[in-house]
Amino acid sequence: MTSIVLYCRPGFEKECGAEIQEKASWNEMYGYLELKKNQGLVFFHLHESEHGETLMRKLPLKRLIFTRQWFITLTEKIDLPDYNRVETIVEALGSEWQYTDLRMETVDTNDGKALSKFCRKLAVPLRQALRKAKVLTEKKNASNKEEGAILHALFLSGQEVILGFSLSHNNSQHVMGIPRLKFPSQAPSRSTLKLDEAFLHFIPRDEWDERLTSGMNAVDLGSAPGGWTYQLVRRGMMVTAIDNGLMAESLMQTGQVKHKMMDGFKYTPMKQNVYWLVCDMIEKPQRVAKLMSEWLLNGYCKEAMFNLKLPMKGRYQQVTDDLQTIKDAFSQHKVKYELYAKHLYYDREEITVHARLLSPIPKRD
Ligand SMILES: C[S@@+](CC[C@H](N)C(=O)[O-])C[C@H]1O[C@@H](n2cnc3c(N)ncnc32)[C@H](O)[C@@H]1O
Repeated sequence: MTSIVLYCRPGFEKECGAEIQEKASWNEMYGYLELKKNQGLVFFHLHESEHGETLMRKLPLKRLIFTRQWFITLTEKIDLPDYNRVETIVEALGSEWQYTDLRMETVDTNDGKALSKFCRKLAVPLRQALRKAKVLTEKKNASNKEEGAILHALFLSGQEVILGFSLSHNNSQHVMGIPRLKFPSQAPSRSTLKLDEAFLHFIPRDEWDERLTSGMNAVDLGSAPGGWTYQLVRRGMMVTAIDNGLMAESLMQTGQVKHKMMDGFKYTPMKQNVYWLVCDMIEKPQRVAKLMSEWLLNGYCKEAMFNLKLPMKGRYQQVTDDLQTIKDAFSQHKVKYELYAKHLYYDREEITVHARLLSPIPKRD
């Protein structure tokens, strides 16, 4: 049987499962879910084997909010002996297919973290053996990272592994979909990593010079103490920070930040020269969603990056409804747009959304 294995934040297996099942059924592909509770792991067992790859070719990973990484199984769970683990894995793969890279993965739990040392050690001889068996391409032949397939080895323990593959153009470039970002010591809060990851995830690197660059104006709603503002300042932007709370003195001293102590729902910019709107207000997600679409439709900003806080229950439904509010507002105004949402690694009880308009806003009567 073919299954799709999906990685998500531990505790969000239900949302991750509901989403893949829904999107698969839109493509008339069906299967059943096996959720590994609090392990951040979901198995979607497909009724038709060939649907694994077809679905992965049709559905961009970018469209899945709760999935960090995914792969299609090549094997069921394999029991590994204490010795000859490498040989057992190479044998299980056969030599039919070739892969451009190998990802050694575990679940994102404390047990998983403990296993990662074992994985790092095994990776070296396994890579060598896979290259020798021509299952992995030689480094020099793997120049086009957009093509081909990546081999995944998911270690459930030192004795159990599941092998699978993902498509290079439709997976996360990070192991288990987790980017390892360094906390900048000058940043005033850990939240800073959320915006850092969001820019990395949503804005392609080769567009940073145009879309994330020095001299731009930005507004940060719910800015205190300044973790997000820090990310904008460090990219050379001028920031208007809106929050009744205090901003870190170090940021104020840069001369790039204007702090206004007021309600983020009442602030509107004086001039239409704001490029980025970022928003991390702890507020009802429906209110934030509405505010963000208004900013974009009024031309107050060009791009918006914001968090939508998740409720305790019915999280998937709530997220779907919030995003629909934004889509409806854009459709009503007949604008083309880009709208993506992701439960990023540094997000907790929230998702991050990126939105921008791709066509001019029609004049209103
Ligand atoms: C999670 S914190 C923001 C952290 C900030 N992004 C950082 O990186 O340091 C949420 C902030 O939203 C602010 N906030 C909540 N409701 C607000 C509102 N209506 N207007 C302005 N700020 C608001 C709170 O005062 C709080 O400082």
